[in-house]
Amino acid sequence: MADNIDNLLTETRRFAPSDEFTANAVATSALGEAARTDRLAFWADQSRDLLSWQKPFTQVLDWTNPPFAKWFADGQINVAYNCLDRHVEAGNGDRVALHWEGEPGDTRTITYAELTADVKKAANVLLSLGVRAGDRVIIYLPLIPEAIVSMLAVARIGAVHSVVFGGFSAESIRARVDDAAAKLVITADGGWRKGAVSALKPAVDEALEVSAHGSTSVEKVIVIKRGGNEVAWQEGRDLWWHDLMAEAEPEHVAEGFDAEHPLFILYTSGTTGKPKGILHTSGGYLTGAAYTHKNVFDLHPESDVYWSTADIGWITGHTYVVYGPLANGATQVVYEGTPDSPEPGRWWDLIEKYKVSIFYAAPTAIRSAMKAGRQIPGSRDLSSLRLLGSVGEPINPEAWVWYRDVIGGGKTPIVDTWWQTETGSIMISALPGLTTLKPGSAQVPLPGVSIDVVDDKGLPVGNGQGGLLVITEPWPSMLRGIWGDPERFKETYWSKFEAASLGKSQGYYFAGDGARKDEDGDIWLLGRVDDVMNVSGHRLSTAEIESALVSHPIVAEAAVVGAADETTGQAVVAFVILRTSQVDTMTPEDAVAALRAHVAHEIGAIAKPRTVMIVQELPKTRSGKIMRRLLRDVAEGREIGDTTTLADTSVMNAIKIG
Ligand code: WT7
Repeated sequence: MADNIDNLLTETRRFAPSDEFTANAVATSALGEAARTDRLAFWADQSRDLLSWQKPFTQVLDWTNPPFAKWFADGQINVAYNCLDRHVEAGNGDRVALHWEGEPGDTRTITYAELTADVKKAANVLLSLGVRAGDRVIIYLPLIPEAIVSMLAVARIGAVHSVVFGGFSAESIRARVDDAAAKLVITADGGWRKGAVSALKPAVDEALEVSAHGSTSVEKVIVIKRGGNEVAWQEGRDLWWHDLMAEAEPEHVAEGFDAEHPLFILYTSGTTGKPKGILHTSGGYLTGAAYTHKNVFDLHPESDVYWSTADIGWITGHTYVVYGPLANGATQVVYEGTPDSPEPGRWWDLIEKYKVSIFYAAPTAIRSAMKAGRQIPGSRDLSSLRLLGSVGEPINPEAWVWYRDVIGGGKTPIVDTWWQTETGSIMISALPGLTTLKPGSAQVPLPGVSIDVVDDKGLPVGNGQGGLLVITEPWPSMLRGIWGDPERFKETYWSKFEAASLGKSQGYYFAGDGARKDEDGDIWLLGRVDDVMNVSGHRLSTAEIESALVSHPIVAEAAVVGAADETTGQAVVAFVILRTSQVDTMTPEDAVAALRAHVAHEIGAIAKPRTVMIVQELPKTRSGKIMRRLLRDVAEGREIGDTTTLADTSVMNAIKIG
């Protein structure tokens, strides 16, 4: 945190929007004025303007049972209709929805009319397999058009999708299938990543294996042909997507569902080992997605080509690849692979090829590009870009300025967007035609969003001070709960600042992030204050990785911390005590390799520790709590801090040597 604060003190560069940008900007100061005048009326207007309701709502917010909010509760809406049919009905069926590009270079151009037709057929496929409104469907796919079609088809019939990132392991799929009691899984025979075909179906097979886990709720598995891998086939359970689609009825009329009908569950890491199923519902979520996508990205749907590089396995892929852009009728690029396949310039090639005007990526990718050198983007024509975005972690001012200069040609605004899986859509960001930008700061809450930075008692800190980031009023795209666990929902997000202790009628949502207000009151994010790491813009829980480590027979105890890393923001560093009886025949190198592989198998490659340190002891307080602060000192090569509360102060010497 100290580094961030230093940065803040020295960062004086300012970038005002050009007159030309401001003159054509979607978001004007009228937005903030309307929100300040009457916040609920503002949200109701946004929702009516941006979306098409099958049954108009008359109620805006029901907050009689906090923290369980209901937005637009007496209205009915079909989310997929809003993303598809209505654009066709408005005469925009020939507009390109997706410029899709596979990693090997194959391409597909899909118009709104074509996407609508595909989703209708896929909806009929799901219905024919017995999927009904409210049923849960797991989607485990590469970033191919069928992934988007699947999500929208599930939404169209009122079922609930839970997308599992294609890099997650069989164990992770299993945990999510079980928690959601999913009825159906949609997967593929592989997908392209880093020049190779990944295997997806075997992980699904392993996750659903009855002999290993007992019975499963899953009745059918739909398999999309993409990677060309040979796949094991379970007759009666497994079905090819192309066979089903070839026979599917083409017509499907979208029915309206209650605004609070569940739309999706997306699992995210928390401070305990068990992933949390974050629940989002229909009308409020789509309002937040469409509103923020239009205003933060200054979307002009007739002329812009928008590209968010996120995978659909993350919330950014849900809100800013699928629901926001499609609700707004945007034309977007979707790319299956990694930025460096087959060569480091692939992203910049795609920007040149499709004349991308709005580009949204994570700081970790920007830092990788910085490392690779400016000559790589410099040899491409990136002049179509007019707006850049950043998400997932704080973007350091150096990377911010590089992004603007090298990718944005020294002219594009950058929106640094703060939000979470739980918030559903962007909460803090500059508005590109209005805000004078400060590199490194996410800056201001969006109109309609109520944010503060408070001290431990919930009192607002003054300008120039740091504290905890809270959201003080409910917002339309807020999570409605943790799937199947209302107590954990209250405990995790609402117990830190309860109504009674604040002396208010309602509590605050605590986001888990530290933040600071600068002299102008602008917000600078300072990272997580809980035991959650942020690796390449993705939240990983220390507890989850620890429990994966101790599930290996050679491990007696494990502690995991996030250590600062130049490229990924934070990296996973594990300290493990081995069971001596089990490791007689292993070298330390073999043990480390086995444990890294084990974590990848249990959770996914993304959680694989960068460093595993084998130690004799772990630093603990007298009450037995691991002092991660001290381990972070070791992991980041710092002098060890205050050890006076350690049960055994000699432990840290052993760790340093070990
Ligand atoms: C956590 C949420 C939001 C989609 C991607 C991550 C961190 C996110 C920023 C930002 C500083 C950021 C926070 C937050 N974060 N955006 N612009 N500046 N930090 O979603 O996995 O739900 O993680 O990511 O720590 O709490 P997520």
